[in-house]
Amino acid sequence: MSEPEECVALVTGAGQGIGRGIAMQLARDGYTVVVNDVVADPQDTASGAYEVKRTIEQAGGRAVVFKADISSPRDREAMVEYVAGEFARLDLLVNNAGVAPKERMDILEATEESYDRVMSINLKGPYFLTQRAARRMVQWQEDGTVGTPRIVFISSISAYTSSPSRGEYCVSKAGVSMAVKLYADRLAEYGIPVLEVRPGIILTPMTSVVKGKYDKLIAEGLLPLKRWGRPEDVARVVSAIGRGDLDYSTGQAIEVGGGFGIRRL
Ligand SMILES: NC(=O)c1ccc[n+]([C@@H]2O[C@H](COP(=O)([O-])OP(=O)(O)OC[C@H]3O[C@@H](n4cnc5c(N)ncnc54)[C@H](O)[C@@H]3O)[C@@H](O)[C@H]2O)c1
Repeated sequence: MSEPEECVALVTGAGQGIGRGIAMQLARDGYTVVVNDVVADPQDTASGAYEVKRTIEQAGGRAVVFKADISSPRDREAMVEYVAGEFARLDLLVNNAGVAPKERMDILEATEESYDRVMSINLKGPYFLTQRAARRMVQWQEDGTVGTPRIVFISSISAYTSSPSRGEYCVSKAGVSMAVKLYADRLAEYGIPVLEVRPGIILTPMTSVVKGKYDKLIAEGLLPLKRWGRPEDVARVVSAIGRGDLDYSTGQAIEVGGGFGIRRL
């Protein structure tokens, strides 16, 4: 078993929101965190990926920024090669980056362009990033560099909840859910756990544009736990997965949704 201070975690879309919360938590857990985001300006340490790096370092942790677009095959390759060249190990991959449609449109009107954009960032990106990272993980696991590499996908309650005004998002997250099962099945022989974390309604820049709508729904009883989720709620679950507490639950989904998924009468 590796010492936590040697471990490396890669978190995609970690410049803000849930990814930021996960990166902060993993840094506290002792990982060197590769903070990935498609937006990353070294001149801007007040927001985005370099703010996350600065805040981690100020707290005594270790972080590097790797700017990459997970929907780009070339960027995915460059990022995994960077991790291999710089650290020669990857203990935890957290597929967090994701987008909502630029515009909510009824499923009877929504465009193929929006479908392709959302699917390529939310599903194709993590699917093939995981393929590339997993090949390396198997190698590092077999040569004894890494004891138990682990993979997490951040999906959504939209994996099983219909929102016809953003169907492409729901389909992408349902696909992520299946990707988890596929990789969990395939990587089980190497002892590499793959888990899905399903956030509910989490207060981040992504949801700030619909805050009023969800404030009202939560006040009216949408969630048994009557509050917004926070990035830290998701990060604590990822932390437990990273520790190995859920290793025997490979392929499963853990919802972080304040009870959203409970059927109620
Ligand atoms: N906020 C919620 O309520 C909620 C609920 C369920 C699931 N999720 C999921 O959690 C994840 C994070 O959501 P969030 O609310 O923190 O979103 P966010 O928009 O606040 O942050 C997402 C980050 O990902 C980055 N990103 C976008 N496209 C990228 C790309 N192609 N390559 C690399 N980075 C990219 C963005 O620049 C941004 O920093 C997403 O997958 C989202 O679908 C969020």
